[in-house]
Amino acid sequence: MGNLTAFISGGTSGINLGIANEIAVRGGRILVFGRDGAKAHAAAEQLRVHADAEIMAGSADVRDPAAVRSLVGLAAQKLGAPNLIVAGAAGNFMAPAVNISPNGFKSVVDIDLLGTYNVFKAGFEVIERPGSMIAITAPQAVMPMPQQVHVCAAKAGVNMVVKVLAMEWGQLGIRVNAISPGPIIGTEGVDRMAPGDADKAAWVEQIALRRFGTAKDIARAVLFLSSVDGAYITGTVLDCDGGMKLGNSGGDWG
Ligand code: NAP
Ligand code: COA
Repeated sequence: MGNLTAFISGGTSGINLGIANEIAVRGGRILVFGRDGAKAHAAAEQLRVHADAEIMAGSADVRDPAAVRSLVGLAAQKLGAPNLIVAGAAGNFMAPAVNISPNGFKSVVDIDLLGTYNVFKAGFEVIERPGSMIAITAPQAVMPMPQQVHVCAAKAGVNMVVKVLAMEWGQLGIRVNAISPGPIIGTEGVDRMAPGDADKAAWVEQIALRRFGTAKDIARAVLFLSSVDGAYITGTVLDCDGGMKLGNSGGDWG
């Protein structure tokens, strides 16, 4: 695939903004959107330092299929048909199940799982063929974690949505994959799970590559999956996590 035209849900901060940035560096056309329009415009301004890129900011809640469909349609008119859809929007909070109401559980499942489906469905209507769709999943999809029952359920669902859509849409020239980031430095998620420097240092000691990931690490995985190098890859969940999911690598093994 040559130049990317990418529509990125949740592209207004964190990892997804990092993905947008790497595509902007390469002169891509990009829609970034979240719920907060002002935040989206600020992100777009940041991306416009890359003069060759064309950036559109939008606002839509991924829980609202009509809003997503309308924004994606508008972006396809403005930027042209996308050849990459990234479903990256997510919500999370840490709480034990006894403190998560049915609505708290539903909110996260609606954003992460149904939201991913809504973004892919809207993307399906406009995506170029061949084209690539990527969901940003999380270790919680396969690693049960206390205080994360809602996220574990939602992201496990995301992994299966990716696999089923890959089976159904492969014949149409659409590849559907997921990337599962490990802990990414500078994100709210990592700061919540390891608030202090000591917590972070202890965590890093358990990761095989002995460092947190960066948004750029994830962006590079997106570029790989969307390029000709990834042309025969569909229905996969690519771990980009420094070996985190292998388990606790702590100790001096050298
Ligand atoms: P983040 O900075 O909090 O970004 C979340 C993005 O999603 C924002 O753009 C936010 O914008 C948008 N968003 C949230 N709810 C939305 C909704 N209902 N509709 C539309 N947009 C919505 O998150 P991050 O930490 O970079 O995480 C990005 C992705 O990576 C997520 O899928 C997350 O599960 C995954 N992940 C993160 C880590 C990590 O270390 N942080 C590790 C593994 C996986 P608004 O607030 O304006 O809506
Ligand atoms: N513990 C327990 N329940 C919580 C909670 C917490 N820390 N935070 C929110 N909830 C519950 C609320 O109480 C509410 O349930 P209720 O109606 O039964 O009281 C439910 O979640 C929805 O809350 P609300 O604030 O209306 O949700 P929202 O739709 O505006 O926001 C969230 C969604 C809750 C996921 C919010 O954390 C969010 O917007 N996150 C985006 C940023 C983020 O999480 N980034 C990291 C990405 S991995």
